[in-house]
Amino acid sequence: AKSIAVLTSGGDAPGMNAAVRAVVRSGLSFGMKVYGVMRGYNGLLNGDLHEMSMRSVSDIIQHGGTALFTARSPEFNTPEGVQKAAATCRNLGIDGVVVIGGDGSFRGARDLTGAGVLCIGIPGTIDNDIACTDYTIGYDTALNTAMEMIDRIRDTTESHDRCSVVEVMGRRCGDIALHTGIAVGAIATLVPEIPYDFQKDIVDRMKAAQATGKKHFIVVVAEGVGKTQEITERIQKETGIESRATILGHVQRGGSPTLRDRVVASRMGYHAVELLQKSVGNRVVAMKGEQIVDFDITEALNMPRVFDENLYRISAKLSI
Ligand code: F6P
Repeated sequence: AKSIAVLTSGGDAPGMNAAVRAVVRSGLSFGMKVYGVMRGYNGLLNGDLHEMSMRSVSDIIQHGGTALFTARSPEFNTPEGVQKAAATCRNLGIDGVVVIGGDGSFRGARDLTGAGVLCIGIPGTIDNDIACTDYTIGYDTALNTAMEMIDRIRDTTESHDRCSVVEVMGRRCGDIALHTGIAVGAIATLVPEIPYDFQKDIVDRMKAAQATGKKHFIVVVAEGVGKTQEITERIQKETGIESRATILGHVQRGGSPTLRDRVVASRMGYHAVELLQKSVGNRVVAMKGEQIVDFDITEALNMPRVFDENLYRISAKLSI
């Protein structure tokens, strides 16, 4: 590709800026023209994009959110929308697009490649819910934020001999819950991938720990499990331990990206542009172990996501 564009799409994630910066700077260093597209695919539909220079991406690597703004675009998700976006690219001579987002954004990238514009996806979402990659940009920052917030909740939970039930993000994926649950020593962690038994997995565990002298408890619930308020009331009723619910919410999506997110995003951004330089499209950049690799988008979208059940079992053994 000689002329490329970059956009962020779907829910934002800390580290997206580092990926945008890497795409812009590697593109320019390969002698390409690089456009920044505003508000996801919407910018391609309404021509809201501008040429970027080395300095357009100064001072963004340390910021959460996305300097290109983001959106979920229902109009783009139609055959007419895809054709319109492809026409914008053709008119400006753009022959490659880097899309930073989640699965929904990759389906768009696949369709746009089908309409003649080479697209590369970069996984950016705090949920870590993309099957083809071990890691998604934003995940580490979200984990550390959730952990810090729960540590604070723990201070007050401990002072009052209470139980705090904390809901973390993740609609379809329990990775944030599992990892923060381990990091904060949650007595129980509920995830959408694994069914739970209220008596055995929560009440009995709390009572057994209470018998050994434990007086305060943290329960982590993934958003996809839901019913956090209900669970909290039921815990209080069945254990007699005063309980409070906290829904962490969008605090997990913001903040300065961690070192890991900045470095992974930078490596993925560079890899995406390398593919476009070789005129390769319809690929998703991914991380396997510590290597940056790439997959065909359709194959990537069809891969089943594997939840780490072994780690889930280990976590139940340690937090007791
Ligand atoms: O995909 C990231 C995520 O934060 C999910 O964890 C959550 O379910 C969803 O986005 C919330 O979306 P919105 O910001 O549109 O409410």
